[in-house]
Amino acid sequence: MKDMWLIYSADENWAIGKNGDLLARIPEDLKDRFKALTINKTVVMGKKTLLSLPGKKGLPGRMNYVLSRSEDFACENAVVLHSLCELFEKLEESNADIFVIGGGDIYRQLQPYCKGAFVTKILDRFDADTYVDNLDKASGWVKTKESDVMHSIAGIDFQYVDYSNNNVKKYGE
Ligand SMILES: NC(=O)c1ccc[n+]([C@@H]2O[C@H](COP(=O)([O-])OP(=O)(O)OC[C@H]3O[C@@H](n4cnc5c(N)ncnc54)[C@H](OP(=O)(O)O)[C@@H]3O)[C@@H](O)[C@H]2O)c1
Repeated sequence: MKDMWLIYSADENWAIGKNGDLLARIPEDLKDRFKALTINKTVVMGKKTLLSLPGKKGLPGRMNYVLSRSEDFACENAVVLHSLCELFEKLEESNADIFVIGGGDIYRQLQPYCKGAFVTKILDRFDADTYVDNLDKASGWVKTKESDVMHSIAGIDFQYVDYSNNNVKKYGE
């Protein structure tokens, strides 16, 4: 299987969402970095994240896999899969790297299988209901790169921080 990566924006508490939406939108991140990293690649997301996307459909220019346990859920421009087992079977066919794009439930389940993480660190704290693991404290995870602090046109300070997982698990092992 090709390498799998986490990609998300998280605040200083490692919060990522509230009421089904992002905590903050950083246009430079979404339009430049997120797109550049994921275009022509495979993306994996949970149903709640899919439902938060424009038009509630898969992202253009990418192979989209959506996880849902509901057998009758369908959506445009995405293949719906019903378990991690089904997902990993499909991912064997992917000839591009795989990006896990959310949300909290899916990040938690797939983190052990990811080679690293591309984190957009929002230098603020928000009221939230969805969180990811604190990678600065997660066993086997190490910070490999940290950008300078940038100031978004949305008025938010942020940084790009990359992490590597020294203990990548193989599904089924
Ligand atoms: N900051 C960021 O970068 C970022 C990125 C993405 C999302 N988010 C935020 O994260 C929040 C959504 O996260 P979430 O944790 O609530 O939901 P989620 O991870 O997007 O989706 C959860 C859903 O995925 C399905 N699912 C989960 N595990 C599964 C499995 N093993 N097999 C099959 N289906 C499975 C279930 O759908 P069914 O109920 O249909 O079975 C479950 O309800 C939103 O606030 C969103 O804006 C933030």
